[in-house]
Amino acid sequence: MRQETRDRMGALDVQRIRKDFPVLERQVYGKSLVYLDNAATSQKPRQVIDALVRYYETYNANIHRAVHALGEEATAAYEEAREKVARFINAPSTESVIFTRNTTESINLVAYAWGRANVGAGDEIILTQMEHHSNLVPWQLLAQEKGASIRYIEITPEGTLELGNLSGMFSPRTKLLALPHVSNSLGTINPAAEIVGEAKRRGVTTLVDGAQATPHMPVDVQAVGADFYAFSSHKMLGPTGVGVLYGRRELLDEMPPFLGGGEMIRKVTFEGATWNDLPWKFEAGTPNIADAIAFGAAIDYLEALGMENVRRHEIEVTAYALDRLRTLDDITMYGPDDPEKRGGVVSFNFGDLHPHDVGTILDRHGVAIRAGHHCTQPLMRCLGVSGTARASFYVYNTQEEVEVLVEGLQAARDFFK
Ligand SMILES: Cc1ncc(COP(=O)(O)O)c(C=O)c1O
Repeated sequence: MRQETRDRMGALDVQRIRKDFPVLERQVYGKSLVYLDNAATSQKPRQVIDALVRYYETYNANIHRAVHALGEEATAAYEEAREKVARFINAPSTESVIFTRNTTESINLVAYAWGRANVGAGDEIILTQMEHHSNLVPWQLLAQEKGASIRYIEITPEGTLELGNLSGMFSPRTKLLALPHVSNSLGTINPAAEIVGEAKRRGVTTLVDGAQATPHMPVDVQAVGADFYAFSSHKMLGPTGVGVLYGRRELLDEMPPFLGGGEMIRKVTFEGATWNDLPWKFEAGTPNIADAIAFGAAIDYLEALGMENVRRHEIEVTAYALDRLRTLDDITMYGPDDPEKRGGVVSFNFGDLHPHDVGTILDRHGVAIRAGHHCTQPLMRCLGVSGTARASFYVYNTQEEVEVLVEGLQAARDFFK
């Protein structure tokens, strides 16, 4: 069966989708680009690029305080993007959707505004061994400053979380539990709602790092149940420079501001200030207007595809990749075997080749992957490696591209033989 026909029969019409992504037409070292670094950042469809250009060409203006037409149009488009985000993740209201720069800033916002007010000496924080540095370093900084400590949920040899002793990890001093919804290094999909539920029953505040979940599967923040949920636009077809912090309204209301300045205030005197309503209380200064609006266009695009279809497509491509990579001698793959239990991320090591060498040879074949520790150095230590090669898939990737990856790996082995 020809590739094109096979993809049309799948969950997505991949050949039609590919036409929306101008960058996929380019060549690298004379070879067609095979972009498999989607966990780092996704490519952008024409619709998102057009939304950016339209804003700058036709209604560029600052928002919220303008009394002219352009300012009103920009404000409406920016707030409409927030409504799209709220609908996409099933947030109960737009007030609990805060625009930040990225997942990292969303988590730091919580660590500073909520953490400094609620975590003290002797308190405990629970994280996992598969944290991205973004959901680890902010809590280490907080713990060091306050004299708190961190406990880590361990990983199993299969690359899932060891939950057998979860209840034993809590103590009366546990203040926060944070975890990744999907691991960027292992691909593991964690049972976030179940783990959050355990924490909630004990009155522990929860944060889920959704950076690798919202791009790839339907996410309902109310069903997950976490107090905070963080993610980035740039990994889900949108521009860089915009992230989201979803927060439970009551907590956001109680929290002091993160950054001070314009927009986040209601009234300022020489003696002090009072704060704006949510969500603007946490959006100090001129926000990233253009990119937030274009993020709204990315959400439109994903909704038109249907997140269930996005998920099914990724399972298909990932299952195919796992099967094909397994045929190579000397390959070690990390994370669950079952594609239903993982996102579209495949981390591996190949013989005794250094992941960077693997990445460099693949690059010469036009294949872009990532090599290194993937901002999860402690996890790499648990795996007993300094790094891995990582191929990560998205809506425009095909089985044919997986074949190019496999050919490139065979070439890498021959090169270093
Ligand atoms: C699981 C996870 N968390 C957090 C981040 C950080 O995202 P950003 O760099 O957009 O802040 C990433 C990015 O790779 C990630 O994969």
